[in-house]
Amino acid sequence: MSEAYPITEHEYDVVVVGAGGAGLRATMGMAQAGLKTAAITKVFPTRSHTVAAQGGISASLGNMGEDNWQWHMYDTVKGSDWLGDQDAIEYMCREAPAAVLELEQFGMPFSRTEEGKIYQRAFGGMTTEFGEGPAAQRTCAAADRTGHAMLHTLYSQSLKYDTDFYIEYFALDLIMDEDGACKGVLCLSLEDGTLHLFRAHMVVLATGGFGRAYFSCTSAHTCTGDGGGMVLRAGLPLQDMEFTQFHPTGIYGAGCLITEGVRGEGGYLVNGEGERFMERYAPSAKDLASRDVVSRSMTMEIRDGRGVGPRKDHIFLHLDHLDKAMIEERLPGISESARIFAGVDVNKEPIPVIPTVHYNMGGIPTNYHGEVVDLKGDNPDAVVPGLMAVGEAACVSVHGANRLGSNSLIDLVVFGRAAALRAKETVKKDQAHTPLPENACDAAIARLDGFRNASGDMSTAQIRDNMQRVMQDDCAVFRTGDTLKEGVQKIGEVEKQMAQIKTTDRSLIWNSDLIETLELDNLIRQAVVSMTAAENRKESRGAHAREDFPDRNDDEWMKHTLTYHSEGEGVRIDYRPVHTYTLTDEIDYIKPKARVY
Ligand code: SIN
Repeated sequence: MSEAYPITEHEYDVVVVGAGGAGLRATMGMAQAGLKTAAITKVFPTRSHTVAAQGGISASLGNMGEDNWQWHMYDTVKGSDWLGDQDAIEYMCREAPAAVLELEQFGMPFSRTEEGKIYQRAFGGMTTEFGEGPAAQRTCAAADRTGHAMLHTLYSQSLKYDTDFYIEYFALDLIMDEDGACKGVLCLSLEDGTLHLFRAHMVVLATGGFGRAYFSCTSAHTCTGDGGGMVLRAGLPLQDMEFTQFHPTGIYGAGCLITEGVRGEGGYLVNGEGERFMERYAPSAKDLASRDVVSRSMTMEIRDGRGVGPRKDHIFLHLDHLDKAMIEERLPGISESARIFAGVDVNKEPIPVIPTVHYNMGGIPTNYHGEVVDLKGDNPDAVVPGLMAVGEAACVSVHGANRLGSNSLIDLVVFGRAAALRAKETVKKDQAHTPLPENACDAAIARLDGFRNASGDMSTAQIRDNMQRVMQDDCAVFRTGDTLKEGVQKIGEVEKQMAQIKTTDRSLIWNSDLIETLELDNLIRQAVVSMTAAENRKESRGAHAREDFPDRNDDEWMKHTLTYHSEGEGVRIDYRPVHTYTLTDEIDYIKPKARVY
């Protein structure tokens, strides 16, 4: 096998897979710590999906009114519907202001207030006074292109350091030893089809989410959960995969994101009867309730026959009452998207919108240092040696059952930096790499070779379409036992179709047929564990809304789901406790209560 696929070996202290916001911040920090670092990415860094984030990055700077990290923490815990780990949430909210000021010092072009401070807007679920006060203006914005500004800033900064970038390299599989430690990652160069084994004392997965498991999503085509797929194949679990966020305002029919910042600037949702229906569902926060609440309310309006359009199957988002100059200054990107993808002039007409898959709260379980964890005997927090995960690929878990808008960008930079700080403590610079057995890469190469020469009767596109439609129909905003059971069975059938797959391009140079197939193999595993975890969780919490179990059940279900997947045995489920403690005595554990907005 290896004669057909010669391997070039590289040795690093640390290898970061993925070069979006989290990957770049981790890479920079590793290099700053003096560690020999490589960054591997399947797309050019500034094309990573972070570029698509619009509305902003949360931090209690208090530029637009009183604020503090404890209020931010309270909102995040409540937003997570008490599934978030409170030590990690404290860490993120406490570190957030410094992380944003660091970005400012790096040259990130934030929008400004009259006094020249970073401009902050309101976002859903962000409040003051531990939920008792008015909405907080906590989301720091660069117009409505914050992710774009952040990604370019981080990439330009990261070039200052002595890091080797391997651009357009696709990570195939983790190389683990017999003790369960990660020893490196095997990658394919897209340009020339050569294989590269990157040896590292620490592999950091910053590979993003798996939104493309669904038919309609705001995620880029590259969001195929490559890190999650590798982790499952390595026999490690993914956590809380039943929790998928639907963003309330994807453009109807196109799926493109219209930022929550629109509602933060005064936009509002209207049903087919011209009613601002959010007043009924969230009397206090209204259109700025958390995303799960708004998406469910919109879905209920549509189901009750109060949608808009000829089929009454979507909702209108109005910003035509807002000041034109303000829209031009702070919302130029969505004005353009609405014109191109919905044919709408936002100054005159509402935007047709529908809840659209946007974010995976679940992912690779980690502690707040970014170290991957798994169950070991009595220890639910046992660290997997040599492996870290950050960003949307990871489940720290700061977002629990539902992420608040603008908490994603802050998660990227806070935990990207945290991973680097930890690696500085744990990785010895220039340490020799232990030899690997001859066959260390055989399984990964066999998988690659199998897909490259696959000669079944179903195309990758057909199977992907089948997967996306099952996920869209049966793992939706509202779920019931019957549809989930059927969903588990249907997604299992799609998984079996992988044995019938047919690829047509046998070359190794820019073989997009092969890469899309490898990506599908990553996606389908995560679709299977997501559906199974959703069927298994018999309660409603955050984004997981069961019609047959409409209430949250803390006694039985305030715990993280772990899903393991193997081709022979299917999905195995286990659990980890939620961290119900804080890091310091500057804030007490925030006790569960009913979640109303
Ligand atoms: C948005 O601007 O609404 C998306 C940003 C996020 O998901 O945090």
